[in-house]
Amino acid sequence: MQKEKKIFLPYAEFASEVQPEAQKYLVYLVYWGLFWLVAFLWTANAQAQTVQVLHWWTSTSEEKAIATLSGRMAQENIVWKNAVIPSGSGIGAGIVLKSRMLAGDAPEVAQLNGVIISEWADLGLLQELDPVASSGKWEKSLFPTVWRLIQPKGHPVAVPLGIHRINTLFYNRKIFARYDLSPPKNWDEFEAIAKKLQQAGITPLAQSAEPWQLATLFETLVLSESDANFYRDAFVKKSPQAFVDPRFGRALSRLRSLKKYMPAFLSEQTWIASTRMLADGDAAMLVMGDWAKGELNSWGIATDVGFSCAAVPNTANYHLYNIDTLVMLDKGATVRSAQEKIAQIAVLPALQTEYNQIKGSIPVLRNPELNKMDSCSQTSWKIFSRGSAFQVPSLAHRMATDEISKDAIIAEIMRFFLNDSLSVSDTQKRLAAISHTLPK
Ligand code: GAL
Repeated sequence: MQKEKKIFLPYAEFASEVQPEAQKYLVYLVYWGLFWLVAFLWTANAQAQTVQVLHWWTSTSEEKAIATLSGRMAQENIVWKNAVIPSGSGIGAGIVLKSRMLAGDAPEVAQLNGVIISEWADLGLLQELDPVASSGKWEKSLFPTVWRLIQPKGHPVAVPLGIHRINTLFYNRKIFARYDLSPPKNWDEFEAIAKKLQQAGITPLAQSAEPWQLATLFETLVLSESDANFYRDAFVKKSPQAFVDPRFGRALSRLRSLKKYMPAFLSEQTWIASTRMLADGDAAMLVMGDWAKGELNSWGIATDVGFSCAAVPNTANYHLYNIDTLVMLDKGATVRSAQEKIAQIAVLPALQTEYNQIKGSIPVLRNPELNKMDSCSQTSWKIFSRGSAFQVPSLAHRMATDEISKDAIIAEIMRFFLNDSLSVSDTQKRLAAISHTLPK
């Protein structure tokens, strides 16, 4: 009763009689508000997890693909911080990751591709993702090859993002239409096309002298001159006999003979620059993993409009693959839930579709949304789906063997490529001798 009366009191009376009580309420309200504000900020902060992700993706399409992942993770209150080590194919990134591990400064997540996953798992450096894999039914939904790759010791320790096809021959459609050319299915056809283009003053094949880019081309030539079993004998088993085999010799000769169709001055340009040559018509063809397709698309050049994909001659039945994967480094319980969330979400079908459309790769799933893929990806998916007999692991991109073996083999290929006075047979003998010393 008394309170009701006071509300309608004139101001003088209010000031003298009611204000002390109102002030009490005001103070009470302020404290209450502050309490909730602090509580809100504390919980928000406790939920938001910052996760550093080390990777080597810097091109337009690669950045867009990463943004798809980080944007999706933001919805889960995960702050994705990029730690980018620019280096095509990840050579620099691997070195930085190792030194950070040794310095006790590992990031929470890192891009780590191929055989090295098993080596790091052996050392107990990778977080096992069994609960995420079993709740997400990874064993059923992933391609068996992908599933095997990510669980080297019976526990899943990597998150697969996408599968790239390396034996892709891109061609510039405008140039091919102008000279009435069709993509070559064998090396005779390739030679005929290349000669015609050269007569017209067009560089037939874009190429860089960067070792990993040359190795990317060379491995497709080994496959082209042989088959999946022989390729594995050479690059997975590192059998000395494979290196002195005539088929390996033919691949070396082919590499040398392709030199005349490459730019006269070969710089160590990035793969982005090699792709740019194709886009601008400075070269008519390019052999590159299909991340080049993602990049061309990101520049507004549509598949089957500005360019198309074919297989490197004589490799149409095979999928020379490279699988991109993330690993979670063991950084204790605090970030574990964020790491597991990333693992869980990255493999979900919708994100797989969106991410791989941008990246140029195909989903790691057995049943992806095929109708959302362009012609290059549909072909890539169909061939990969044929099973392991048709899947060939990339040497240059770490799918076939350990880092030391890969580097030793690539170094010899480079020597051969750069020095025309080295003979095919001497190079073969050197490789066979080296292969005896490589880890098996
Ligand atoms: C590969 C990687 C691809 C692509 C390429 C160029 O090793 O798997 O996703 O980024 O390097 O950097």
